[in-house]
Amino acid sequence: MGVDADPVAEPGDSEEPPSGPDEAALVLPPPAAAADVITPPSRSDPLDRDTTPKRGPTDGDGSPEDPAPTRAASEETGEPDPAPARPLPRVIAVANQKGGVGKTTTAINLGAGLADLGYRVLVLDLDPQGNASTGLGINIRDLEASMYDVILNDVPLDDCIEATSVRNLFVGPASLDLAGAEIELVPAFSRELRVKQALAEVIEDYDFVFVDCPPSLGLLTVNGLAAANEVLVPIQCEYYALEGLGQLSKNVALVQKGLNPTLELSTIVLVMYDARTKLSDQVVREVRAHFGDRVCRQVIPRTVRLSEAPSFGQPIIAFDPSSRGAIAYRELAKEVSGGAPQRAG
Ligand SMILES: Nc1ncnc2c1ncn2[C@@H]1O[C@H](COP(=O)(O)OP(=O)(O)O)[C@@H](O)[C@H]1O
Ligand SMILES: [Mg+2]
Repeated sequence: MGVDADPVAEPGDSEEPPSGPDEAALVLPPPAAAADVITPPSRSDPLDRDTTPKRGPTDGDGSPEDPAPTRAASEETGEPDPAPARPLPRVIAVANQKGGVGKTTTAINLGAGLADLGYRVLVLDLDPQGNASTGLGINIRDLEASMYDVILNDVPLDDCIEATSVRNLFVGPASLDLAGAEIELVPAFSRELRVKQALAEVIEDYDFVFVDCPPSLGLLTVNGLAAANEVLVPIQCEYYALEGLGQLSKNVALVQKGLNPTLELSTIVLVMYDARTKLSDQVVREVRAHFGDRVCRQVIPRTVRLSEAPSFGQPIIAFDPSSRGAIAYRELAKEVSGGAPQRAG
């Protein structure tokens, strides 16, 4: 059951039955000591800051038995407490200004994995392409209200939220007119805080909110970052994977400074890992060397099933529960949350 050196040897496109070793194989060893392998992103992040979210725990009275599942505690890496307990609700912006890097796939499937664990999860779709919405079974051409109306017409967020086929998983869908929002927002009052303000009214109902950002660093992404406590960045195990991360880090820093001082780039997820390529391993090593234990140990493999699921409007755990992708995202959900919620009642 150990972690093999060269774990997954099957052709990337065929789904293997989810036997144990596969799963284990995609869990990386603990982070190596940080070395200066790559240079891009500036390391001016607030890891030592207070990460207490703006609001208390869901039904909290501050008592010790409040549900506050933590992220998997850091192993003995000698790092000074890099993963403090993270009280719920957690609002996580999934951002990377590059398109096609797995933001939406991760928002949907990590969200579904957490919902499956028993957390109440909301995915807010801020991408005018609406992939998170359609990937969760929503027909974005047939909506009474969408995130566009929430952001520009002051429609309450609750009025646009839709249930999905997965229990506990909800979506605030995008619509095509969201494409105009970047421009329409420019003259608007408190234009960066629209999503944050809308979310404040429903946040009590959820444990995790994922904001699926568009592939740009415009006003919609700024809205996502301003609304969040944390930023999750998916990184493809591909050439140029690290390109643009410096710019993203800079923008996170700008939002911290001006809008959201407790925002934290907390989580890096390595996606589209292909065990057959040396490159994948190289990227994994470089990202880990640079970002340390903010990089999730669970890596998401490249599999065709993951790319097929959205056209059926289903997260992978519903579409093909025993596939490698489903197992990986389930494991990631455990890692990110620290396990199932301990809710009283
Ligand atoms: N692990 C994966 N294996 C195979 N295909 C993937 C994987 N993750 C994402 N994809 C596919 O890659 C494309 C881009 O992913 P997506 O999540 O939409 O990226 P983004 O939201 O960053 O633009 C989509 O077609 C998606 O289905
Ligand atoms: Mg997307």
